[in-house]
Amino acid sequence: MDKFVMVIFGASGDLTKRKLMPVLYSLFRDKRLTGDFFILGIGRTIYSDENYRSYILEELQRFVETGKRDISSMASFVSHLRYLPMDPAKEEGYPLLRQRLVELAGGGTPGNLLFYLATPPSLYGVVPLHLKAAGLNTPYSRIIVEKPFGYNLESARELNRIYASVFSEHQIYRIDHFLGKETAQNVLAFRFANGIFEPLWNRNYIDYIEITAVENLGIEQRGGFYETAGALRDMVQNHLIQLVALTAMEPPAVFNADNFRNEVVKVYESLTPLNKEDLNEHIVRGQYTASGNKKSYREEKGVAPDSRTETYIAMKLGISNWRWSGVPFYIRTGKQMPTKVTEIVVHFRETPHQMFRCSGGNCPRANKLILRLQPNEGIVLKIGMKVPGTGFEVRQVTMDFNYAQLGGIPGGDAYARLIDDCIQGDPTLFTRSDAVEASWNFFDPVLRYWNENPDAPLYGYPVGTWGPLESEAMMCGHGAEWTNPCKNLTNTDQYCEL
Ligand code: BG6
Repeated sequence: MDKFVMVIFGASGDLTKRKLMPVLYSLFRDKRLTGDFFILGIGRTIYSDENYRSYILEELQRFVETGKRDISSMASFVSHLRYLPMDPAKEEGYPLLRQRLVELAGGGTPGNLLFYLATPPSLYGVVPLHLKAAGLNTPYSRIIVEKPFGYNLESARELNRIYASVFSEHQIYRIDHFLGKETAQNVLAFRFANGIFEPLWNRNYIDYIEITAVENLGIEQRGGFYETAGALRDMVQNHLIQLVALTAMEPPAVFNADNFRNEVVKVYESLTPLNKEDLNEHIVRGQYTASGNKKSYREEKGVAPDSRTETYIAMKLGISNWRWSGVPFYIRTGKQMPTKVTEIVVHFRETPHQMFRCSGGNCPRANKLILRLQPNEGIVLKIGMKVPGTGFEVRQVTMDFNYAQLGGIPGGDAYARLIDDCIQGDPTLFTRSDAVEASWNFFDPVLRYWNENPDAPLYGYPVGTWGPLESEAMMCGHGAEWTNPCKNLTNTDQYCEL
């Protein structure tokens, strides 16, 4: 690899110590990050190079997985770190940054630069303009920007305009770590490297699709950020909709960055627009309420006591094209659910006629395919089988593939894959400007509606439950059901409109 410098804005922050440094260290250990490189941290906290190295070395020992901590290779990794205290919001620091980069380039013009914006989103539009003013947007530079890219359609367009005035599109890497997950990429391999499912993968054989990405954690220490984001901006507009695209897209003729991303955009553009009448019927938003010794969202630090920010969303989406017309996609995400799980469940149509007796009241008329992204990564097919013995009783059983059989998920982390791709100059798994806008374009009416109608329904759900009961009512019309429904509830009066 040529000599290069990675500049991290927000180098004294949480994302850097928890995620970026452990990931960069793992790339270094795996010899994906080699040769003559520096990582220059930028932040407002004052550190000398030496102090910063010690700080990161300490944090690596906390955040790198136990089996992968090798102190001598960590020490060798941190020897590549440098630090420059400056406020990335203020233009005055950038000439100094330039000077530092010239020094690191051995006195020449800095060329091969990778900027990483691990800053609050409010700086996403500011930093590139300062980089340009300092002449740091060299033809070989690249920039990685965290999500959320924009706050709504208008701000995303504005950000795209700013980035386009500083960099070419091929230099801009809008990161969405879900696409870096091995199991998300495997949805493509599963669909397009196997012939048997393709003929079934459409409205003729699929009844509905369910996509879930829920967590058993709350908002951690991120009250300030979460209040301005909510589940829609934090998870749905980016991660969930990416999973919809992987499930629904057409196979690209040749698999490369442009073709793949063209197909993603086509899915977003085919989403059936939500009109006002649909909004309350097709979207259920919730907020977690206290349960046992667990706090409600409104009691979290940095959250308004009367906040109407959603921590849960369930939505019914339609895709208006030949493959998917009439097949609902039910998606949901939530904080403080009973468990952490991300999965895509494909519900096939029922057999037209049931001629066998079903065992234990469990009539397996519809097959289900579960693509589990995390945890217990794997693929499960639910099929009906004859119960051994006399007569013809049928029971639903599972055919299971677990990634553990392939030696587990290699190399750990989605960020590692994505940063490596960016260093190699492969933008396939990053979001292109038109995809960001197409996605916001779809969700914008929802945000506008909530903004204009602050009293639009927001339902409570106690911490540790599967979300508002209304999310089930939303599916009833179709005869559909979440894989983990809130069935058999005893105390339903805990679920009320907030
Ligand atoms: C992040 C969100 O993008 O994704 C978090 O900001 C969320 O709120 C996280 O917890 C979930 O990612 P993962 O990989 O843990 O499922």
